[in-house]
Amino acid sequence: MQIIDSIRPDYRSYLSKEEVAAIEHEASIMETREAAGIEALKVVQKHRGWISDDSLYAIAQLLDMPVAELEGVATFYNLIYRQKVGRYVIHICNSISCHLTGYQQVLQAIKDHLGIEYGQTTADGLFTLLSNACLGGCDKAPVMMIGELHYEHLTPAKAVQILKKLAAGASTDNYLPPISPEISPEITPKDKQGFRDELDDDDVAGEISEMELSDE
Ligand code: FES
Repeated sequence: MQIIDSIRPDYRSYLSKEEVAAIEHEASIMETREAAGIEALKVVQKHRGWISDDSLYAIAQLLDMPVAELEGVATFYNLIYRQKVGRYVIHICNSISCHLTGYQQVLQAIKDHLGIEYGQTTADGLFTLLSNACLGGCDKAPVMMIGELHYEHLTPAKAVQILKKLAAGASTDNYLPPISPEISPEITPKDKQGFRDELDDDDVAGEISEMELSDE
């Protein structure tokens, strides 16, 4: 273990100043530095898209806590990704209310549209598909979560339109976590226009309006 530890980067050269500052802020408002573990993981994931082993070691070093303990925190929370994921991670609720209101059809439409199964990422690095227990919107089922947003009352067509809108890069960067350049796919203006040309203008306008309402 000592040999492995010795080749890990020092957090001062690994984490950015912004990451260190944000983690130190979280640590300053907790009773102990260890208690800031989950928030520190969120900080680094927000900047890098996921938590690599090096990130884990760097955070543990900064918080002066055992790596194994931080690993336990990271694996307990299903919104901390310990493997590289796509820019947009789709969490589809597979609990009872969503099952009763069309989860299977929505899931199948998403799988067909993206060409991936649970646990997989699209070849362009844009989407990762994951299942999730109840997302707390049972009265608005079926529900999926992407980034920090919940999308409710899903239908197969609505779910696909949302994914097309995200792929087109339309007005999403304000509320989805920024992604590190290494996993952020290059989408050129020409690509974006291509996506937009495929969409029905009336449908997109309605979708955006509906999603904006659901954010409130
Ligand atoms: S069962 Fe799906 S949000 Fe609760």
